[in-house]
Amino acid sequence: MNTTKEQWSSRFGFIMAAAGSAIGLGNLWKFPYVAGTNGGAVFLLLYIIFLMLLGIPILLSELAIGRSGGMNAIDSCKKINPKWGFAGAFGIAGAFGVMSSYCVVGGWVIRYIINSFANGGANMNAEYFSDFSSRGFEPILWTFIFMAATCFIVAGGVTKGIERVSSVLLPILIVFLIGIMIYSLTLPGALKGVKFFIVPDFAEIGGFSGFIRIALNAMGQVFFSLSLGMGTLITYGSYLPKNSKLVSSTVTIIAMDTAIALAAGFAILPAVFSFGLEPDGGFGLIFQTLPVVFSQMNGGTFVAAAFFLLVLFAALTSSISLLEVIVAWVCAKTKLTRTWAAVIVSVLIFAVGCFASLSVGAVPELSVGGMNLFEFFSFLSDKIIMPLGGFFICLLTGWVWGIPKAEEEISNSGAIRFRARKLFSATVRYIAPMLIAVIFITSIFGGK
Ligand code: PHE
Repeated sequence: MNTTKEQWSSRFGFIMAAAGSAIGLGNLWKFPYVAGTNGGAVFLLLYIIFLMLLGIPILLSELAIGRSGGMNAIDSCKKINPKWGFAGAFGIAGAFGVMSSYCVVGGWVIRYIINSFANGGANMNAEYFSDFSSRGFEPILWTFIFMAATCFIVAGGVTKGIERVSSVLLPILIVFLIGIMIYSLTLPGALKGVKFFIVPDFAEIGGFSGFIRIALNAMGQVFFSLSLGMGTLITYGSYLPKNSKLVSSTVTIIAMDTAIALAAGFAILPAVFSFGLEPDGGFGLIFQTLPVVFSQMNGGTFVAAAFFLLVLFAALTSSISLLEVIVAWVCAKTKLTRTWAAVIVSVLIFAVGCFASLSVGAVPELSVGGMNLFEFFSFLSDKIIMPLGGFFICLLTGWVWGIPKAEEEISNSGAIRFRARKLFSATVRYIAPMLIAVIFITSIFGGK
C-alpha cells in the first residue's frame, strides 16, 4: 500500500527540509534571549549536554521509527507495537498546538517585512507592536496569509513542495544570517553583547532552584529547537529511502540547528548592546527592541527587511513540517487528497489561531489559568506535550521495539557500522527518559 509513497529526491533535500524544520523561531528569537537570561555560558553548557543526552538519541529514534514504518507518526509507532500509537498521537496534538501560535507570529513577521520596506521600520517600537498586535482584525489577516503560504507548500507535496522550498529558503537564510552577524559583530561596543551571551553569570543561577530552572529551560529549548517529540521527524523519516544514513543525518541536522542558534545570538545580542539597549524577553526582543536598533543603523531599512525575511523563511520551513505531520495522518485516515487535507487542516489551525491572535491584545479575556490563549498553547506544547512525546519515543525505541531491532534499522541491516550502539542504548533506555522525568517532575513541584 505504501510502495508508491513519496520520497525525498536527494539527501541534500532531506537535510534542508529536516534542518529547516528544526531551524525556526526557536533559534532566532528564543535561543539568544533564553541563553542570555539563564546564566549565558551555564545555559550553553547544559544545552550542549542535553543535545548529547536527549537530542541525539531522540532524533535518531524518531528517524528510525519513521523510516522503518514508512507511514505517518501514529501508524509508524503502531507498526512497532499496535498499542503504542499514542506516542505518535502526541505529535499530532502538539503540532496542532504549536501551529496555532506559530502562525500568529508568522503573520506578524510578514507585517514587519512590509513595514521595513515601507518606512525603514523607524516606527516599529514597543508602542507599534502593542498597537498592531491588539488591532483585532489586521493581525488575523496576516496570520491567514502565513497559513495560506504554509498550506500551499504542503499541498505541493513532499518533493515538489516541502523539499523544493526548503532547499531554496534555508541556504538564503544562512547567507543573510552570516551577513547580519558579521555586521553586528563589527559594531562599536559589540563585545558587551558577546559577553552577555557566552560568559557565565553565576549570580544569575540562584542556587539549586535556579539551577533546575535553567536545566528545564535548556531541556525545553533542545526539544523545541530540534522539533522533537512532535512526530515531525517520524513523518520526515518516513519519506527516507532505505539506504539513507540515519546517524550522519542526525548529527548534521543537530550541528546545523546549533550553529544557527549560536549565529543568531552573535547576530542579535551585539547589535542590541551596541545601541545601548537591553535584550527584552520573549517577542519583545525581535518585535520591539531589534527594530529600534535597525532604525538607528546605517542602511537600517535593508538590514531590517533582510532580518525579517530571514525570520519568515525560518518560520515557514518549520510550519510546513508541523502541517505535514497532521496532513500525512489525515491523508492516511481519510480518502481526502493531499490538497484537500492541507486545506481543511489549515482552516482548522487558522480558526484556533484567530483566538490565539485575539488573546494577545484585542480580547485578553481569552485566557486559561492566568495565561492568554497564545501563551497557553505554547506552554502546553513546549512544556508538556513535547517532553512527554519524547519520553514515550524513548520508551518505545529502547524497551518496546528494543535495541537489536532499532540497531537493525539504524545500521541499514548491518550495511553501516553503528559505532555508538552502546551509548545509544544507554541514553535511549535509561538516561533520556530519567532526565525528562526528573526535570519534568521537579519543575511541576518546584513552583516555576
Ligand atoms: N524547531 C522549530 C523552531 O525552532 C519549531 C518546531 C517545533 C517545529 C516542533 C516543528 C516541530 O522554531
